[in-house]
Amino acid sequence: SEFICDKNGVVVSSEFDTVDGCVRIPVEKKVEKEIVITIKNENIKADVDILMCRYLRKMRGFKVDGFARLHLPPGKSACVCIAANSLCLPTGDSHRIRARVTCHGVGTFIVPLCLHLQLQGKDFHIVRSLKAVCSNALVRDLLPTIPYEKPAYKVNTIPSTSIEDGLLPPRSGSSKLQPEVPLPQFPMTNDLQHLLNSGLKQTKAISLLEAPMSMKQYAKRFSLLLHIEEHQMQLDIRRYDMEGVTMQVFKEDKKLLCLDVPGVAEKRPSVLPHDHLFVCPLTQNGVRDRTEYKGYVHRVLNERVALGFGKKLMAIFLPNMKFAVRFVVNRYPLRMQHRAVQLAVEHNCMPWLFPTPGSIGMHPLVSDISSLKLKLYDRKLEANKQQFQAVQHIVAGTARPGPYLVFGPPGTGKSVTLVEAMKQVLGVYRDAHLLVCAPSNSAADLLAERLLPHVDKRSILRLNAPSRIAMSIPETIKDCSNYIHGEGVYFPSKEDLLDYRVIVSTLITAGRIASANFPSGHFTHVFIDECGQAQETEGVVALAGILDNHLVNPSGGHLILAGDPRQLGPVLRSPAAKDYGLDNSLLERLMDDTEVYSPENAHCFTKLLKNYRSHPAILKLPSQLFYNDELEPCADLVLRNSLCNWEGLPKKNFPIVFHGVIGEDMREDRSPSFFNPQEVVVVVESVDNLLNAKGFRVKQKDIGVISPYRKQVMKIRSVFKKKKWDDIKVGSTEEFQGQERLVIIISTVRSCTDFLNVDFTFSLGFLSHPKRFNVAVTRAKALLIMIGNPNILSQDIHWRRCNKYSYFCCFFFKNLFENFN
Ligand SMILES: Nc1ncnc2c1ncn2[C@@H]1O[C@H](COP(=O)(O)OP(=O)(O)OP(=O)(O)O)[C@@H](O)[C@H]1O
Ligand SMILES: [Mg+2]
Repeated sequence: SEFICDKNGVVVSSEFDTVDGCVRIPVEKKVEKEIVITIKNENIKADVDILMCRYLRKMRGFKVDGFARLHLPPGKSACVCIAANSLCLPTGDSHRIRARVTCHGVGTFIVPLCLHLQLQGKDFHIVRSLKAVCSNALVRDLLPTIPYEKPAYKVNTIPSTSIEDGLLPPRSGSSKLQPEVPLPQFPMTNDLQHLLNSGLKQTKAISLLEAPMSMKQYAKRFSLLLHIEEHQMQLDIRRYDMEGVTMQVFKEDKKLLCLDVPGVAEKRPSVLPHDHLFVCPLTQNGVRDRTEYKGYVHRVLNERVALGFGKKLMAIFLPNMKFAVRFVVNRYPLRMQHRAVQLAVEHNCMPWLFPTPGSIGMHPLVSDISSLKLKLYDRKLEANKQQFQAVQHIVAGTARPGPYLVFGPPGTGKSVTLVEAMKQVLGVYRDAHLLVCAPSNSAADLLAERLLPHVDKRSILRLNAPSRIAMSIPETIKDCSNYIHGEGVYFPSKEDLLDYRVIVSTLITAGRIASANFPSGHFTHVFIDECGQAQETEGVVALAGILDNHLVNPSGGHLILAGDPRQLGPVLRSPAAKDYGLDNSLLERLMDDTEVYSPENAHCFTKLLKNYRSHPAILKLPSQLFYNDELEPCADLVLRNSLCNWEGLPKKNFPIVFHGVIGEDMREDRSPSFFNPQEVVVVVESVDNLLNAKGFRVKQKDIGVISPYRKQVMKIRSVFKKKKWDDIKVGSTEEFQGQERLVIIISTVRSCTDFLNVDFTFSLGFLSHPKRFNVAVTRAKALLIMIGNPNILSQDIHWRRCNKYSYFCCFFFKNLFENFN
């Protein structure tokens, strides 16, 4: 503040808005703008000398000149003007200097301009920061259509006296898969509710959670943890309730009503097709009706849901009618997990959940793995001893009755090893039936895609949940999915399912198979990929009541887990549930608790360290940060070097670009999600450069764009759609787990510190989320482009290392190098 204030009667002004010494200059990309800065001597007593005018930071495109009587000494850059003889500014006189600014990219560029002055032989300074805010037509197009307005709902909690049922989505009753094993409600007891309301104190519950884990208290312990998590979910969901909102008739289906739910795209709140919520009509004075109407979710659109209500509400509905809305936690996945931990005890899942050094490997199917004489479908795995052996051991069942674990950092071939083992098992054991699972739809889709090339597509079923939005099923696997074009997802009968040799589903959907009570011994193998992403109770859903142990099924009972605990893990709401280990995956617990799981014991464990995905420069940082520098770069030379000479690289042979952009993180309308128009522009420019780079032949399907905020993903998708770039995958880090692309572009979005606590609460963004950072940067094979505000990102230890790393390796920061603090 000392430098920015006018002093000694000297007043510095310009034609642009100046706040706190910062002159805000709107500029158009690549168009030079002149700023006239007037220095006026209002000191009535003395003349003032101007000695020098200089930028305090070097920035490409910022120049200053126009000193009528000052001149630049030979060889001096135009960003510093030094008076050979000082310029005298007599009392009352003004002098004008001209700064010229040209910005080569969109965003904000700030450079302080310092005037060095003298009054009666005493030096003083006045500083103005020139803040060029550079825009273009696309940035303006992307600006909020409707200004952001935080929804302020006053929610009245008077309970209703009656509930009217709603209209179920079509097909929801048409599942042919009969649930033979009941799925109870698993309600929270009043005592537990009281206990949780008053905070878990020294109680029996605490003793249970603090006791060492064992099969005896397995179900009790996990049920308690699930209830603790649910208690927090029930509290958290209340913040989304709304009051005084209207609905409209859904244009595509007049039987439905449409409700705006601004955060739905980011699961704030989470609302899926087939879920329900309650609405309650309000009188003109805001008084509630005593009846609540249940609305079933038929469609989830970007930020709206289409709801089916019963006839009573539809009969009284008017477009300007006001409602209170109450959201409901979807308890279905929780109930599945409660039941799974109970079934785990009933069906004696001990060999998989608590293997001991003595039990692992007691019942192999083939003791000499070399006798198998396997011919791999993916011949390249033969060159990697660990992968080849892992396939052999899985086929031979050498870990039986214990689980076989494949552990390894990103891109080390865990998924391809698992998929190869599945194919071999199908070939070797003619009566094998496989259940193949992953925590997320995208990871399960990837497994199905990779299985297809060598397995008859009629023998694989990608079993999707009824709540899956049909549009999100990739075209490549639609033919082998429980999906009928134009009708959506359906559920086949148990008899039909028995015919498939491989069923691929998410862990929670596997619970429907447990409900169907398949004949004992039907599933011989359960494979779980990305196991580190799921909490143990989810993993157990795909196991308990599905896989019979070796005593029941002498040739079956194989459990194979693959994953990496350093990549994305489960997201929990309750700190207590986290503290007591509900966010631990089965894979991680087994590795921590069972010393047998170490690389010396190849019969039950494989650790893969050769990375076949990424260029060594891309790999180095995650290897250092998360894997003790153990990763070996082994990716195909031609592929990984294929963009090393791309003209967009600041340094050849170092295929990482950190594109510093000081953009603005914005919101629009009532959506809580963020976007950053300037970063969208840089993403689009980068894609444009790549697709048109001569001699590189980069195709749309080679590019992936990752952003942690739903709104940014939506904005990027909308621009790509207009450009017909339909084959470029744009999504969240979660959607990219397990995936890879030749080029990955990451848009980090955050450009101010104000919302970092919001990010933390809702587990959003990249900052303070090392696992998300790790997954995002390890998806690229040949080129990684990171876009973000280095000043913000440098507040996070991993990004700071990342910035430093790129900085030292390539003198990067296209455009913005000097702005990095
Ligand atoms: N032995 C090998 N030789 C050559 N390429 C391989 C080998 N093993 C795997 N790959 C290739 O490496 C890439 C990464 O493999 P994969 O996706 O299975 O890794 P991952 O460990 O599952 O990674 P993530 O942790 O990201 O899920 C794939 O393109 C795969 O084809
Ligand atoms: Mg994988």
